[in-house]
Amino acid sequence: MERPKRGDEIDVTVDDLAFGGRGVSRADGFVVFTPDTAPGDLARVRMRKVRRRFGEADLVEVLSPGPGRITPPCAFVPECGGCRLQQVDYDVVLDAKRRQVAEHLVRIGGLEGVDVREADPAVEHFGYRNKMEYSAAPGPDGELRLGFHRRGRWDEVVDIDACMLATPAGNVAREAVRAWAVDEGVAPYDQREHRGFLRHVVVREGVLTGQLLVTVVTAPGPDEVVDRLADRLPAAVPGLVGIVHAVNDGMSEVTAGLPSRTVWGRDWFEEAVEVEPGRPVTLRLSAGSFFQTNSRMTGHLYRRAAEAAGLTGGEVLYDLFAGVGSIGVALGALSKHVVAIELVPEAVEDARGNAERNGIANHTAMAGDVRVVLRENREALPPPDVAIVDPPRAGLSGGACRRILELSPRTLVYVSCQPATFADNAKRFVDGGYRLEWVQPVDMFPQTPHIEAVARFTRA
Ligand SMILES: C[S@@+](CC[C@H](N)C(=O)[O-])C[C@H]1O[C@@H](n2cnc3c(N)ncnc32)[C@H](O)[C@@H]1O
Repeated sequence: MERPKRGDEIDVTVDDLAFGGRGVSRADGFVVFTPDTAPGDLARVRMRKVRRRFGEADLVEVLSPGPGRITPPCAFVPECGGCRLQQVDYDVVLDAKRRQVAEHLVRIGGLEGVDVREADPAVEHFGYRNKMEYSAAPGPDGELRLGFHRRGRWDEVVDIDACMLATPAGNVAREAVRAWAVDEGVAPYDQREHRGFLRHVVVREGVLTGQLLVTVVTAPGPDEVVDRLADRLPAAVPGLVGIVHAVNDGMSEVTAGLPSRTVWGRDWFEEAVEVEPGRPVTLRLSAGSFFQTNSRMTGHLYRRAAEAAGLTGGEVLYDLFAGVGSIGVALGALSKHVVAIELVPEAVEDARGNAERNGIANHTAMAGDVRVVLRENREALPPPDVAIVDPPRAGLSGGACRRILELSPRTLVYVSCQPATFADNAKRFVDGGYRLEWVQPVDMFPQTPHIEAVARFTRA
């Protein structure tokens, strides 16, 4: 195939899904990535970007749907940037996600022949997210739009009145905030002009406890308008336990780490995780603390982590990148001593309380960067038999990998939410003397390209 030019329309057959959810077509060594396609599609696509060996295209028309294509159930696909894979059959997606984990290990980590198991499917394909961050922006006539960014646009928001990834209770909460904003005549924040008041609405939910916490992020402005949320939200949102007002006076579109105050109720909620059937662990989560976004799959994920850790009751367990301490608390009964390390001080406080309330007595929670805390407390802390790391998407820094290699736990469990950084880190641990025994992908994020994985490393 002659290399197409930018703007050309060409017909391609999609034969796979790439990381990020785009369909891949190949012709004479030239690779074309196209979003909104599905394996098996014969599609007309328009070239948007052309490089030497690959190009990026937009879908013009599906000429003949492939066996992997289904009709997206959500009316906001494809303009909403939230979901990327509603047009692909779930089993096809699950298989592609597993292969992506395996291929990254080979391509980035140089690790051939790793036992990457079949991916564990999610129990719910929709309505699974316990945290939703909605953006506010003005429509063409200045009217409020509350939803998600239009695909590929930083300055435009698609107004969403029912999100299929949110829970029914979460949708009710967003609509109640919308009604307040419309009745109060609250101006949505315009990112281009840096004008307006309402910037974001964050809805967090304890799916297994039925508790909801709403955070409204505004520009600096009249607090009394936000205070009036307390007059209407508690009656409109069953399960609401708190309303938080956070103020963002900066340019960047952040929702965490902002000065905030509690408008009504409290600034935390509870969620339960069931690792051992019939023995749920209840966790307290502050508004700013991280927690896995799919509550029902979290118990399953931690069961896989427990399987990888192989605890017998006598081990010192390090829970690194601990968040609210959930993994260490859930597995604490099987350990002699848990050491939890987490960057966000609020989450560390949560972790201490969660250990205490769940009867995990020998639990030490420390605030700070994993690399620094491990270096500075090397003598003071008991050495780990088992370490579980659960870093953010960026993975572990080289320094953090080196600290863990120095500590040399017998078993290392890696909980990854990004296959590429996991593959890079896996190579460092293998080069450092660990054997990668198996990798278990777990689908926590249906309809999106993301995939979680649990890996077991043992000291060779
Ligand atoms: C993917 S979350 C995992 C949280 C927890 N293990 C769970 O299952 O909910 C990653 C956590 O690492 C924390 N974090 C990010 N960078 C860190 C660092 N350099 N040192 C310590 N913690 C960090 C984040 O605040 C977040 O709570």
